[in-house]
Amino acid sequence: MSFMTEKLELKDIQAGRADPEYVDLLRRVLAIQSDCEIGGPHLYVEKMLPEAPLKLDRLVVARTSTEEIDHFRKFAVLAGDLGVDTTYILQRNNPQRYLEAFRGTINSWEDFAVFGFLIDRVGKYQLEEFMGCSYAPLAAVVEHPSRVMLEEEGHIDYGTTRTAELAAVGGEQKERIQRSVDHWYRTGLDMFGSSSSRRAERYRHFGLKRRTNEEARQQYIAEVEPIIEKMGLRVPDRQEGRKYT
Ligand SMILES: [Fe+2]
Ligand SMILES: [Fe+2]
Repeated sequence: MSFMTEKLELKDIQAGRADPEYVDLLRRVLAIQSDCEIGGPHLYVEKMLPEAPLKLDRLVVARTSTEEIDHFRKFAVLAGDLGVDTTYILQRNNPQRYLEAFRGTINSWEDFAVFGFLIDRVGKYQLEEFMGCSYAPLAAVVEHPSRVMLEEEGHIDYGTTRTAELAAVGGEQKERIQRSVDHWYRTGLDMFGSSSSRRAERYRHFGLKRRTNEEARQQYIAEVEPIIEKMGLRVPDRQEGRKYT
């Protein structure tokens, strides 16, 4: 398999110097990334902004959602440059989101904490795919110094810390956080997509992604499972309830 190593700018695409399949894939990945960024706040703001346990937590919910809205804006601008009108992403309801993880609602503080711990972490993996990618304006959003990556790290750290604290309480509280980990871990593993995805191969062919779905998933597993164990929680079965393997 050969990989495209050339770097393209918007003007190259506007001048018709890019393969039409490349432009299609780029439009698609930008629409999906925009959808995931705005999908987070739609899951938790309504319930968690008023119901987070402490005032400080409420501030964090508010800050996290403003950061995600800004991430949406950054990817939507890139998509817009390529002629994708992302208005439909702003208008759609949760069940219409591209990824399963964003189709429900978050109604408990445990789910909010674990969402940061496990799902924002998948988000970090997705963004890492674009580092050094063949579309220079996209690479620039995630490469150092990148506010988007730093903010994503903040969401992950906060979620991980809160999850560990709730696990350390023990008893029923620990069982509740375990149930959230069970749910979001399988959701997170599925977010990497199918190991035999043909489209994923095309993304790699065009230098728009670096790792295969399975490589990224395995790295995520290796990063996350020791953290779950350290929290004194059970590592969920990796196969149970999975939709994509
Ligand atoms: Fe984000
Ligand atoms: Fe995030």
